Amino acid sequence: MDYKDGRPKINLTRTLPRPNAYTIALETEFRDFAFNEERAPLNKGKWRSEVFHTPEDSPMDVEIGTGTGMHLADHAMKNLKRFIVGLELKYKPLIQTIRRAHLGGLRNSAVCRYHAFNLDLLFEKNEINNMYIHFPDPWTTPRKPKNRVVNRNILNWIYEMQRPGSFVEFKTDSREYFLWALDEIKETKYRTEFQTLDLHNSNSIYQNNNFRTTFENIFIRQKIEINYIRLIKD
Ligand SMILES: C[S@@+](CC[C@H](N)C(=O)[O-])C[C@H]1O[C@@H](n2cnc3c(N)ncnc32)[C@H](O)[C@@H]1O
Repeated sequence: MDYKDGRPKINLTRTLPRPNAYTIALETEFRDFAFNEERAPLNKGKWRSEVFHTPEDSPMDVEIGTGTGMHLADHAMKNLKRFIVGLELKYKPLIQTIRRAHLGGLRNSAVCRYHAFNLDLLFEKNEINNMYIHFPDPWTTPRKPKNRVVNRNILNWIYEMQRPGSFVEFKTDSREYFLWALDEIKETKYRTEFQTLDLHNSNSIYQNNNFRTTFENIFIRQKIEINYIRLIKD
């Protein structure tokens, strides 16, 4: 990853030498609900008014790293009065996500091709409700923890962006990442509502209400315990 001014830089979609079906869909079929890295930040502070055309008090959640979008689509379908914005770096899962979430005519979700480390360029303070971070890349090789999305700086940004009463849900297969993240969380203002090292044997409402993501299903098949935490902004 290329960093400039301490920020990760990603390539610009418009300068790609060979557009493909996914990059074309991003700029055509899904243009009003799928935003490339240049158009996405123009929605900062205006997601409800300009993208979803909904009142400012409508709940609007965010998911970082949607992958193929199974969770985002399920969330959109089960929460017709909520809105959700997904962040994803790769074009194929980005378009898979928005296509899945818009099936049946639903229009309560949007996606951005955006790097999570630049989240503060996408949302204003007090603009978002709940945050979902499911199985982010664990970056377990030495000297790589600096690339982990769940870190004290990003959590502090998210805290400022969230409306009071909102939660952050973080799940990971990586025990190493999870234990490291617990120390990062101590440096934030969040209250821990629930945490477990083994979600699927926790006999909790969080287990009962859990939606199994694509990666989660792979880890369950491999008998890997799922680490889970839910944080609250009071
Ligand atoms: C391991 S996958 C998990 C996908 C999905 N959440 C699931 O549970 O099945 C992580 C996803 O995050 C995306 N991703 C990785 N780093 C990211 C970043 N800095 N910003 C946004 N998305 C990112 C990857 O492209 C990938 O689709």
